[in-house]
Amino acid sequence: MDVFKCVSTLRSVRSFISKEVPADIIMKVMESGRLAPSAHNDQPWEFILIKDKKVLKKLEQFCISGRFVSEAGFAVVILTDKSSKWFQIDPTRAAQNMALTAWSLDLGTCWIGRLDAEGLMSLLNIPQKWQVLTVLPFGYFDKSYIGTTKFRKSPEQVFHLDGYGVEL
Ligand SMILES: Cc1cc2nc3c(=O)[nH]c(=O)nc-3n(C[C@H](O)[C@H](O)[C@H](O)COP(=O)(O)O)c2cc1C
Repeated sequence: MDVFKCVSTLRSVRSFISKEVPADIIMKVMESGRLAPSAHNDQPWEFILIKDKKVLKKLEQFCISGRFVSEAGFAVVILTDKSSKWFQIDPTRAAQNMALTAWSLDLGTCWIGRLDAEGLMSLLNIPQKWQVLTVLPFGYFDKSYIGTTKFRKSPEQVFHLDGYGVEL
């Protein structure tokens, strides 16, 4: 898929169909996170791939604003190194890479912002040096679902030319 088409059509998906995601597709999504750029090339991240349906079901209780994680074909728990100055920015770029790669392969995802992080750390045996940035559930979805979300501010609202307040 053309990059701009991917960026401009990407939507959050909060409901998934029960179609298995092939292993090579899962690895492409994982790789697109690993290959993201980071400040000083520090790569202050690690990724936990969750494929086991029983574990996906257990994640549900800790993903407060994303209970739909239990429906996903797989999920990725993105860990960020709290000691990095760029601990929120770098892994977020990895997350966006993963979302866009997934979208280009017909998979949807949604950033889950409200988590019971302590519960997740304990469930998944995550060492304390890490912070859970987000959980991204991935899966195939019913395409008629798309188009129901709000769209973006207009160019007039957000673009300026050669200085603030001048219309582009
Ligand atoms: C940092 C961040 C946190 C978000 N947290 C949640 C969340 O907890 N639950 C949820 O359903 N969607 C969450 N979203 C998805 C946004 O609600 C969504 O991106 C926005 O409404 C625009 O819709 P779209 O992605 O379909 O274009 C989050 C998105 C971002 C970038």
